[in-house]
Amino acid sequence: MKSLVSVEDTYAVLFERNPHPMIVYAPTGGDILAVNEAAVSTYGYSHEQFLRMNIRDISAPEELPRLEAHISRQRPSYEYSGVWRHVRSNGSIIAVEVNSSELPYSGRPARLISVNDVSRGVLAEEALRQSDANFRTLIRSAPLAIVTLDRNGLVQMWNPAAEHLFGWREAEVLHRPLLIVPENDIDEHHLLLARAAGGDPVVGIERTRRRKDGTGVLVSISVAALRDERGSTTGLIATYMEVGTWRTLEEQFRHAQKMESVGRLAGGVAHDFNNLLTVILGYGHMLRAMDTLDASVSSSVAEIVDAAERAADLTRQLLVFSRKQVLQPEVLTLDSIVRRMGRLLRRLIGEDIELVTVIPQSTHPVRVDPAQIEQVIANLVVNSRDAMPGGGRLTIEISDVELDETCVSRRMDFQPGKYVMLAVTDTGTGMDQAVQERIFEPFFTTKELGKGTGLGLAMVYGIIKQSGGDVWVYSEPGTGTTFKVYLPAVEAPGLSEAGAPELIPISGGSETILLVEDEEKVRMLAAGILKTAGYHVFQARTGDEALLILRQRPDEIHLLLTDAVLPMVSGEQLAKRAVEIRPGIRILFMSGYTDTAVVANGVITEGNVFLQKPFTPEILLRKTREALKR
Ligand SMILES: Nc1ncnc2c1ncn2[C@@H]1O[C@H](COP(=O)(O)OP(=O)(O)OP(=O)(O)O)[C@@H](O)[C@H]1O
Ligand SMILES: [Mg+2]
Repeated sequence: MKSLVSVEDTYAVLFERNPHPMIVYAPTGGDILAVNEAAVSTYGYSHEQFLRMNIRDISAPEELPRLEAHISRQRPSYEYSGVWRHVRSNGSIIAVEVNSSELPYSGRPARLISVNDVSRGVLAEEALRQSDANFRTLIRSAPLAIVTLDRNGLVQMWNPAAEHLFGWREAEVLHRPLLIVPENDIDEHHLLLARAAGGDPVVGIERTRRRKDGTGVLVSISVAALRDERGSTTGLIATYMEVGTWRTLEEQFRHAQKMESVGRLAGGVAHDFNNLLTVILGYGHMLRAMDTLDASVSSSVAEIVDAAERAADLTRQLLVFSRKQVLQPEVLTLDSIVRRMGRLLRRLIGEDIELVTVIPQSTHPVRVDPAQIEQVIANLVVNSRDAMPGGGRLTIEISDVELDETCVSRRMDFQPGKYVMLAVTDTGTGMDQAVQERIFEPFFTTKELGKGTGLGLAMVYGIIKQSGGDVWVYSEPGTGTTFKVYLPAVEAPGLSEAGAPELIPISGGSETILLVEDEEKVRMLAAGILKTAGYHVFQARTGDEALLILRQRPDEIHLLLTDAVLPMVSGEQLAKRAVEIRPGIRILFMSGYTDTAVVANGVITEGNVFLQKPFTPEILLRKTREALKR
């Protein structure tokens, strides 16, 4: 009969049928003593499994310490224990609200917990918090200045890129209206915010905004509304990109392209030009050396040679600029070059200018062609002198510098790393922006006709770029100018002292030379000079002809003197085969420019002797002797 059902059975039914999972465990050890149906279905363990388990087995591992502390604590007979993370039999995590009460179970003290699964709400909230954290990390680490504003237009978040761009720290701007908006733009600013808040995002408008130090910065601004799940606007997010950065890169790119094409043109012209000049100079020198000429003829010859030498100079400068110059680099320190130039520099700058040098005891070595670096320094110094007609101070400074990402990020094809900086500073006229933009262009000069060719800085640029460095300029009209040359530091033990190269005396000889040159006039000239000096000379126009001669007379030929640029078989291929046919044969390359494998990248491979066109008879004989001596 129903009325006879005991009180205990009623409670048993309340326990068994309760829709909330319920678990009874022993507070001393934690062993589970009883569970209800809802617990079985919620956690996924069977009754039997549960009864072999401990209360700790359903706790998420990361909450065990909290659980231990909780169990060992003296507790009231009934309490709300808060939200916990439990693990189900399949490993998934549920968030549960736990109520716990003391009760005797089979005569022993026990605790009953009643569990309310609140996973849906809690876990979703956690996911939300996580995505919010991700979002914050993203904003904090973004290279773009990002600012969020609340509904009233007050700053809510101000990321590090914004601190960097505008100069205000986040703490200085939080909960304040945007300080970067200039007075006269405030109205438009409010209009833009209202527009974005109304659902019409602002994309990439360019405006000037204010930095903390008062200077303006041109930025591209985008603004969009932030909304809650119901779609109502909770605030705004604004991004600022500095326009100047892109402009600068774009300009540099265009500049580099222009320099490249002018350079290619110059290189091509210089090749042919050098062959012609070699002939003019060669015969001119030979004529000049004759003592049978009468005075008027010999002075005319001197004029011809003079003019040809100046023309040779000009083509050389063009080649330098087009980075087709053959560099003969050594590892050395810049201060040795500057010290060696000391007297020359003094003479270049004259009396009215004070020369200051700031050169530390030792700087990192660099790999450069010393003669070319002298050119660089001389050009910069002469420019500074010209900019100080009324006198002034000229400072030459050398120092080791380490350029990091931020320093080089605004320069193209320039890597962060260790550099040696050479700075030439003057207190002269300075340059305005328009002049600064063009100074490295060949033939750009502001000097009057006949005073400057406009090649000085073009050469500087070419040499430094070819050496793996870069040139930066800072100038202020009326105040002065600084040119900074950066050259990559090398970690190299073998330092060569910058000194005058050893001069090999000009002498003839009786060895046999195979001369290969496709330009007939140049070949005739060189053959003439060599024969006059006592050498035996075989001539060939092409590589194939030369190989034929080598095969026919394998033992008689001591030196292969070949143009590096030949049709069909190149000078380099020819040299390789010549060495196979006649091991021990000496090689001397000549060339007017460097687009060949012999002088890969314009840097002559160490151990090779190289004869630069145009050459004079003396230089030809000296280089020939040098090659034979190796
Ligand atoms: N230190 C400087 N101060 C002011 N202006 C300079 C300075 N250096 C260069 N310039 C400007 O840059 C221009 C180009 O310089 P660059 O050395 O290429 O040619 P140049 O000196 O005019 O002629 P060249 O060097 O061929 O004799 C100069 O005409 C001058 O206007
Ligand atoms: Mg100059």
